[in-house]
Amino acid sequence: MVRHFTELSDLGSEGLLRVLDAADRFQVQRGSPSHPRPLAGKSIALIFEKASTRTRLSLEVAVVELGGHPIVLSTEGSQLGRGEPIPDTARVLSRMVHAVTLRTFEHERLLELSRVSSVPVLNALTDQSHPMQLLADLQIIRRARSRLQDLSYAWIGDGNNMANSWIEAAGLLGLQLTLACPRGYEPDERELERARQRGARLKLVHDARQAAAGADVISTDVFTSMGQEREREARLQAFAGMCVTREVVAAAAPQAMVLHCLPAHRGEEIAADVLEGPQSHVWDQAEARLHTAKAALEWALMPDD
Ligand code: CP
Ligand code: NVA
Repeated sequence: MVRHFTELSDLGSEGLLRVLDAADRFQVQRGSPSHPRPLAGKSIALIFEKASTRTRLSLEVAVVELGGHPIVLSTEGSQLGRGEPIPDTARVLSRMVHAVTLRTFEHERLLELSRVSSVPVLNALTDQSHPMQLLADLQIIRRARSRLQDLSYAWIGDGNNMANSWIEAAGLLGLQLTLACPRGYEPDERELERARQRGARLKLVHDARQAAAGADVISTDVFTSMGQEREREARLQAFAGMCVTREVVAAAAPQAMVLHCLPAHRGEEIAADVLEGPQSHVWDQAEARLHTAKAALEWALMPDD
């Protein structure tokens, strides 16, 4: 059976932890001659219908360091931009490459690709979720705190793709997560309910300090995601008071970790002195994209069970 990684739940709770173990191993092995090259002789298509720095870099470098050959395609530079249907594209990709990663807008586009593709499809961000980023976030938290459970997590900002993936992670791992979002920008109630049923302890509030109170990890993201540029002014107004400032961080547990998937807008969702401050882990978080990208590719292409 083909292994697609469209959501964190495709991994399952145990699979997720095994992927994080693999990422830790890849981190240690980096640069050593013993670094495994399981993708030797394999080509991986990396398709971007939206901009990217970290995801593009991490996936491309991951494929190369695993011994494979990455092929980057963009909407503009391929027939996707001229309207070639996803199912046609999927059938062609399946005959030429060994896996496909896709960054796109509607999540349904990713699902459509995965339904038709006979090679693994991995989610490199959609409007709905960003599971690869969560792998990196969880990897660095576990490395820093030696555990993921028994920590208190805060999400401050938009109820967006990143928030949805945090909610999903909370469900898979039984985490305690408080989300502070402005009214009208909360995550989808169905995502919250699904995660609660899986064991997440979730709280939804509308105040940044309330979410941060006692938190061990504070995460945030841009207020205006890719594709929402026309909403920027309205969003800036709606999100007033949601910036992760020093005062917000002071409400958290001592030495709380501050995360941001990047790119960051200093002074909007995060204060410059917090982003650059001693509790910020954003550069480790960015680096972890590489180790976890390798682990995700290995999970999809080299099933061990
Ligand atoms: N965090 C993240 O996915 O960054 P990019 O948009 O640069 O890929
Ligand atoms: N929520 C952001 C994440 C960027 C990595 C976006 O979708 O633009």
